[in-house]
Amino acid sequence: MEFMDLATALFRWLHIATGLLFVGLLWWFNFVFAPFSLATDGETRKKVVTELIPRALYWFRWSALYTAVLGTWLLFVVFYEGGQTLEAQQPWSIGGYVMIVIVLLLYRVYVLLAKTPIGKDLRLFGAIGIVIVAALTYYMIEFGHFSYRGYVIHIGLLFGIIMVGNVWEIIWPGQKKILESMKSGSAPDPIIMARVMQHSRHNTYLSVPLLWTMIEAHTAVPAANSWLYLIVMILIGWALVSLVYKKAGKIQG
Ligand code: HEM
Repeated sequence: MEFMDLATALFRWLHIATGLLFVGLLWWFNFVFAPFSLATDGETRKKVVTELIPRALYWFRWSALYTAVLGTWLLFVVFYEGGQTLEAQQPWSIGGYVMIVIVLLLYRVYVLLAKTPIGKDLRLFGAIGIVIVAALTYYMIEFGHFSYRGYVIHIGLLFGIIMVGNVWEIIWPGQKKILESMKSGSAPDPIIMARVMQHSRHNTYLSVPLLWTMIEAHTAVPAANSWLYLIVMILIGWALVSLVYKKAGKIQG
């Protein structure tokens, strides 16, 4: 076995391990800790938050970063170097490069949109999001000549960039400020708290469809090779997350 094959096998394994830690903690924050926190009194909350959350956030932010770095390796080796991005026989064109740049830049559009009143309405935000994903997929196929596996993983890349960007740009800096306030005995800034919660919630909604895009190369169903199939699977993923939120709010201690 060549060195690159061995490295890729190891990195794929580690990518899944760090991804599990990252997404597992994300779900724990949102489906376990958030409802628990609402059920505690101020003193208990202060003690638990200041002792427990910094430890959880340590693993959370570093696993997010390692997952992204290892995922980027896989992207280069399997898709760019390994020739899986485009339809067979299609050469790289300006359209293909433009689409990748758009995927990389869309995170900034997402952050700006999340700050507007649209970002406060989860359903409207999701509706706009799915239209953008559908348009992006269409142009990846028509303009970039991406293969089915190629456009599916680039939607996964978009979701992954948003999730990791959310952790490092919004959730972790925001949580640091919240923790500082709690330690000094003052009330945390409600605007920062709302922004952290908003982006953390988005991450939960992105995580389930992201997993679909990551594993999709292993499944072969008749509907595959259709952009509509991907869109339907994303919507099913969002519906599942919404059900889990509903259930999480009802579980008693
Ligand atoms: C920026 C973030 C990410 C990038 C760039 C990325 C990239 C990739 C790539 C290129 C693959 C190979 C897919 C293939 O061979 O068809 C992959 C597989 C995978 N990724 Fe990610 N990923 C990211 C985040 C995540 C996260 C957060 C998880 C959560 C657990 C995850 C879990 C997986 C799994 C389970 C596989 C399947 C491995 C396999 O099929 O053997 N990834 N990822």
